[in-house]
Amino acid sequence: MIYLAPLQGITDRIYRNLFPVYFKGVDAAIAPFISSSKKMKPDNKLLREFYPENNTGIPTIPQIMSSEPKDFIMIANKLYDVGCGTVNWNLGCPYPMVVRKGRGAGFLCDPARVESFLEAAMPALKPHLSIKLRIGLKYPDEVFELIPIFNRFPIEELIIHPRTGLQMYEGKVDLDIFGQCLDISKHRVVYNGDIDSLEKFELLSKRFGSIERWMIGRGLLANPFLAEKIKFNTEKSYDEKIKIIRAFHDHLFSEYLKILSGPSHITNKMKAVWTYLGGFFEDGAKIKKRIWKTHHRDNYIDVVNKIFSETPVSKA
Ligand SMILES: Cc1cc2nc3c(=O)[nH]c(=O)nc-3n(C[C@H](O)[C@H](O)[C@H](O)COP(=O)(O)O)c2cc1C
Repeated sequence: MIYLAPLQGITDRIYRNLFPVYFKGVDAAIAPFISSSKKMKPDNKLLREFYPENNTGIPTIPQIMSSEPKDFIMIANKLYDVGCGTVNWNLGCPYPMVVRKGRGAGFLCDPARVESFLEAAMPALKPHLSIKLRIGLKYPDEVFELIPIFNRFPIEELIIHPRTGLQMYEGKVDLDIFGQCLDISKHRVVYNGDIDSLEKFELLSKRFGSIERWMIGRGLLANPFLAEKIKFNTEKSYDEKIKIIRAFHDHLFSEYLKILSGPSHITNKMKAVWTYLGGFFEDGAKIKKRIWKTHHRDNYIDVVNKIFSETPVSKA
């Protein structure tokens, strides 16, 4: 089973709805986090994102970032009422502003707070709970104090990205620590981190034979055909892939245009998409530079048309 990882600002409802129209192999997704400081009226925009009629693409589990059990319960139960059977708790966000408030990865160095959060939240939660975590805030072994706590609660699964918060998104994933987490966790574990090719996936699946669920973020955004390759070992021609990427891009663009009004809002949104999608192209760095210089819709369309018309029809 392959999950699309949450990337705030990119893997939103529109992206998740359109992705499976063009690409195969992704079974489920975790949505980017909802911050629990947001007040949630029944017609709240964030809540509406999860109405079944608005989620016609990849089946998605919402994610909540919160340090307050009562806020978490309130949002989680509202999500349950609109049809979400599982919610995910974010224990991985490494940004200093988040960590300083004791949220996201800010929990990882404080097992007592994790325990009291779960003790307060679990009995009142209507949906199942899954947790996405890093292995520590500063030190990669902080997770060893957390797993025995998780083991005492009926958690659906642990999605582990084996980096510390301090590492942000760089440096090596710690596969030794990940392996030890697997040994001591009573819960199903999902692997997440740096899968960007079939070869890397195969190495990991050989090493961690008991893992059945994998989560991929940046690798899938840069190569949306990756899940299909991993699952079915099939590969389209480069020409065909470029055509599909173009169609996906144009569809995304037209859907975002419907909801983003200012001239630069749409280009900023598309730049976020290209941050990763640029990686699909051999000259991705140059492509991104050209796109970054656009600040208006019309100008953006011209540049993208040029990029696709210049892209060699065949790499061979
Ligand atoms: C720009 C960006 C935004 C992200 N937003 C979230 C988020 O909202 N929630 C979350 O749990 N992880 C978030 N992540 C982390 C990813 O879901 C994932 O754990 C991380 O990128 C490692 O997986 P990958 O190497 O396959 O991308 C984000 C990562 C990036 C780069």
